[in-house]
Amino acid sequence: TKVFVPLDMAAKAMGADKVAAAIAKEASARGLDVQIVRNGSRGLLWLEPLVEVQTPQGRIGYGNVAAKDVASLFESGFLTGAQHKLSIGKVEDHPFWKRQHRVTFKRCGITDPLSLSDYESLGGGVGLAKAFAMSPAEAVAEVTKSGLRGRGGAGFPTGIKWKTVADTPADRRYVVVNADEGDSGTFADRMIMEGDPFALLEGMIIAGYAVNASKGYVYLRSEYPQTAVVFGRAIEILREAGWLGPRVRGSDFAFDVELRIGAGAYVCGEETSLLESLEGKRGIVRAKPPFPAIAGLFAKPTIVNNVLSIATIPMIFEEGAQAYADCGVGRSRGTMPLQIAGNVKYGGLCEVDFGLTLGEIVNEIGGGTHSGRPVRAVQCGGPLGAYVPVKDFDLIFDYEDFAKRDALIGHGGLVVFDDTVDMLQMARFGMEFCAIESCGKCTPCRIGSTRGVETIDKIREGFNVEAEIALLEDLCNTMKFGSLCALGGFAPYPVLSALRHFPEDFRRKSVAAA
Ligand code: NAI
Ligand code: SF4
Repeated sequence: TKVFVPLDMAAKAMGADKVAAAIAKEASARGLDVQIVRNGSRGLLWLEPLVEVQTPQGRIGYGNVAAKDVASLFESGFLTGAQHKLSIGKVEDHPFWKRQHRVTFKRCGITDPLSLSDYESLGGGVGLAKAFAMSPAEAVAEVTKSGLRGRGGAGFPTGIKWKTVADTPADRRYVVVNADEGDSGTFADRMIMEGDPFALLEGMIIAGYAVNASKGYVYLRSEYPQTAVVFGRAIEILREAGWLGPRVRGSDFAFDVELRIGAGAYVCGEETSLLESLEGKRGIVRAKPPFPAIAGLFAKPTIVNNVLSIATIPMIFEEGAQAYADCGVGRSRGTMPLQIAGNVKYGGLCEVDFGLTLGEIVNEIGGGTHSGRPVRAVQCGGPLGAYVPVKDFDLIFDYEDFAKRDALIGHGGLVVFDDTVDMLQMARFGMEFCAIESCGKCTPCRIGSTRGVETIDKIREGFNVEAEIALLEDLCNTMKFGSLCALGGFAPYPVLSALRHFPEDFRRKSVAAA
């Protein structure tokens, strides 16, 4: 019997390794033939460790399993999918799973991430073969046709970026994957790299082929050590299997990948400071233009794409660009892996077509707050994203609808807060975060963020509140329009949205000016 115990870091943090060891021990004590597969996570993170058993009826899940539960699971006959107090039934029938359309995460949680035969049995390699049957220019056109936009947050059309790289004359080009997943409440890059690493590597090979690059780098944040282990091993496996190296899968196209680990700076997720860091320098932002597509790594034309953008590429080629473009709404085509976190009942990763409302995502998929209290705000798009109040839950999850209301879908992270949240403190956190993470290159961000924290502190003390609020708004506008990169440029969004939607939190105390 096959029993699945995730090796994803979220499951390991909740004791998955101990559970796997306990299942192996119990099975051997009972003389039972059990094959333990360490799969990726299915994304139902509040249920981790989620143990699954392969039965003729499908995969039956048992949530929040601890090592101490293992004996009773065997007693109840879980190897045949029998009932137990931890049963959740068939995972695909769970409400959280049912609303999903898994494209990028098609295999994540299903397979052993380091089994190439598992990968191939679920379509792995088909996209690459289809890309190789096209000319590089046709491969770029296929990506453009899919409508895929950069999933790192900015939503720039991926095909146009690739075409710019391909069309820029150069003796060498690079593919760089941004895995410096620094946004609060996001974990999709980590999950795919731990749960289906070959998908990212296959996407990188296709990208290299399309723009004539023979070297790819993955820049991974240092806070993901487990990811580095799994992904590093995946690179070795593909090298041994001839997918990477001088003749990729018997073709005359050469491509190899190197994994680089960052040193813990949020700003190194900004593409130009990431490139500086890759070149061995201090991670400081470069002025744009030139865009990296023209002059990127070592001043050569470079694709810099987020993990999710590249990991989606194999599926686009496997199923055809049109199939991907047929999903979604307006100019937001395809699917988005949402990451729902914070004070929420069902936290995890849920991949859906663009077009749900924010209310459906938070209340129906996320199940409302974990505390059971009313939702007050949702921060969308990481620490630089706006706080959206409940009255705006009709907001449609797509790039344009969010932008219209000064909000950001970013990398798809949603952090939920209940009615006990102090929005002045959250605004202060936004400014403080910017002050800590600023690279220091430009004045509005370097100085502005520190002055912003001080101004919010004065407002909290009730000192000359209205004048200080006006000053804070003015400062936010200076940062928004005067900063060199998105860190200083977006830090005002959480502050201004908190001020606009929750003005009462900034006016709790008032002391007249001297
Ligand atoms: P951007 O709008 O300057 O650029 C987006 C991408 O398009 C870049 O790769 C840029 O080089 C490329 N580009 C733009 N114009 C181009 C042209 N004419 N030709 C070729 N390429 C072109 O945005 P930026 O600063 O790269 O990213 C900001 C976003 O990052 C924010 O919206 C935020 O959501 C997101 N973000 C994501 C984080 C994460 O953890 N994933 C963390 C922090 C911010
Ligand atoms: Fe550096 Fe901040 Fe300026 Fe960006 S906005 S370049 S992080 S100082």
